[in-house]
Amino acid sequence: MQSLQEKASEWSGVANGDAFAIDDGNVFEALGGTTQPFVDLSTNFYTRVYEDEEEWFRQIFAGSKKEDAIQNQYEFLVQRMGGPQLFSQRRGHPALIARHRPFPVTHKAAERWLHHMQQAVDTTESIDAGTKTKMMNFFRHTAYFLVAGNEMTRQGHGTSCKCKHGESKPAE
Ligand code: HEM
Repeated sequence: MQSLQEKASEWSGVANGDAFAIDDGNVFEALGGTTQPFVDLSTNFYTRVYEDEEEWFRQIFAGSKKEDAIQNQYEFLVQRMGGPQLFSQRRGHPALIARHRPFPVTHKAAERWLHHMQQAVDTTESIDAGTKTKMMNFFRHTAYFLVAGNEMTRQGHGTSCKCKHGESKPAE
C-alpha cells in the first residue's frame, strides 16, 4: 500500500525534497526572526477564506472565529519554520491529520485552500520570492498529505505516519 507521504507527492506533484526544502535553512530567521511575516500571511489567507464567494468552502471554517484560526495557523507556521514553539505551548502536538478529522478535506477543498494560500503568499510583501516558492511547495504537499489522511481515517484505518509536515524537528 502507498504511504501517505507517497500519495501526497503523487497527488500534489511536489517531490518530498522540494516539500521539505523549508528545512534546508531556517525560514523564521531568514524572514527577520519575528512573527510578523507569519501574522501577515495568515491574516491575508484567512481574510480570503472567510470572504470566499464559494459558500461550500467558507462553511468548512464556520465553526471557528477568524481571529482564532489566524492565531492557530501563524503559531503553527512559526514553529514549523524554525521559530519558537508557540503552537505546541498553547495547543499541544500539531497532529495535523487528527485535527482535520472533523473537516471534509477533499481534493477539491485542498485546491481551494491552495488557491487562497497562493494568492496570500503572492501578496505578502514581508516574504521574499525564494521563501514564497519553498512555502508553497510545503503547503501543496501538506494539503495533499491531509487529503490522503482524510481518506484513510474515513476508511477506518489508523494514520501512524513518521511524516515531517507537523514536526518542528524533522523525523530521522
Ligand atoms: C485548522 C481546514 C489545509 C494547518 C483548520 C481548520 C479548518 C481547516 C476548517 C479549523 C480552523 C481553526 O479553528 O483553526 C483545512 C482544509 C485544508 C487545510 C479544508 C485543505 C487541504 C491545511 C494545511 C495546513 C493546515 C495545508 C498546514 C500547512 C492547520 C492548522 C490548524 C488548521 C495548524 C489549526 C489546528 C488547531 O489549532 O486545532 N484547517 N485545512 N491546514 N489547519 Fe487546516
